[in-house]
Amino acid sequence: MISKASAPGKVILFGEHFVVYGEKAILGSIDKRIKVTSETNKEKLISVSSSLGQLKIPITESYEELDSPLKPFFYIANEMIKKFNHDGGIKIVIDSEVPSGVGLGSSSACCVAGAASVSNLFTKLSREEILELAIQAEQTIFKNTSGADCTVCTYGGIIEYDKKSGFNKINSKNDFVLVIANSGIPHHTNLIVSKVKKFKESHENEFSILCKKEAELINKANQALEINDLVVLGEKMSKNQEYLEEIGVSNDRLQDMIKMAEKNAYGAKITGAGDGGCIVALTDEANLEKTMNNLRSGNFECFSAKIDSKGLDAF
Ligand code: MEV
Repeated sequence: MISKASAPGKVILFGEHFVVYGEKAILGSIDKRIKVTSETNKEKLISVSSSLGQLKIPITESYEELDSPLKPFFYIANEMIKKFNHDGGIKIVIDSEVPSGVGLGSSSACCVAGAASVSNLFTKLSREEILELAIQAEQTIFKNTSGADCTVCTYGGIIEYDKKSGFNKINSKNDFVLVIANSGIPHHTNLIVSKVKKFKESHENEFSILCKKEAELINKANQALEINDLVVLGEKMSKNQEYLEEIGVSNDRLQDMIKMAEKNAYGAKITGAGDGGCIVALTDEANLEKTMNNLRSGNFECFSAKIDSKGLDAF
C-alpha cells in the first residue's frame, strides 16, 4: 500500500520567539511544498530518503539516539508500527521544494506531511490528530517548539496562533507577494531559542516590555491584514524586526539584506528563528521586481512566494 501527503512551508510574519513564551504570532503558509510518500513492505526496516540523505533502521532497533533531521519520521513510523502491530517495515520518500534549515518550516512541513502520509497507511486520522502526531514528532528534534509552525503547515492560509488558545484563521485577501531571500547562513532553531531564553532570563523587564509591544503590534497587523493595508503591514514588519534585533537574533548580514529589500518593499524582517536563514519582504506588483533586483544586486538568492490556502493535502 502507498500513501502520499504534502504540506506547505511557512513564513512567520510576526511574533517568532515571543510565541514560545505564550505571546501571539501571525504565520502564513507558502506555495512551496514538501511531499511525503510512504509504503509498507515486508522488510523489517524503516527507511527514509530525502535530499538530506538516506537512513535505514531495523524496526527492532531504537531510533532514539539518532542525531538526524530525519528523526521525526522514525518517531512517526515507530508509533504507527506499534499501534497497529504492523509486521513489516515502512519506506518513506521525501520530495521537497522548501529549502531546509533556513526558517521556512521545512521540518514542520515534513512532520505534518509525514504524520499524514504514514498514518494513512493504517488509519484515517483527523487534521487535529495529524497535527498532534506532527508536533510530537517535531519535539524529537526541537523539544521546546511552540507548535506554531506545524499548525500553519496543517491548516494553511494566514493564522494567528498562541500556545494556549491555538489558532484562528485571519480573514485576509492576501493580495501581496512575499520576497524571500536566503542569507546563506545556516541556523539551528534549538540553539537560537536557547539564546533567547538566556536573554529573557538576564533581561526580564526588557523582555516583558517587548512582549507587550509585540502584542500591540500584532493587533494592528491583524487589522491591516484584514483590509490588505500593505503600507501599515510593511511598517509593522519592519518594527517587529527592531524587536528581534533587541533580543539578539539578527546579525549584520540579515540587517544589510533587510535594508536592501526595504528600498522598495513595504517592509521586511527575518522569518523564523533568525541568526541566519531567511528574510521576508512584503511587496505587490508595484515593487516586486525592484525588490528582487535589489537583493540580487547584493548577490542574495531570492524567490517570490504567495500564501497557500490549502495546508495539508492528504485527503
Ligand atoms: C521557529 O520557526 C519559530 C520560533 O518561534 C520557535 C517556535 O515557535 O517554536 C523561533
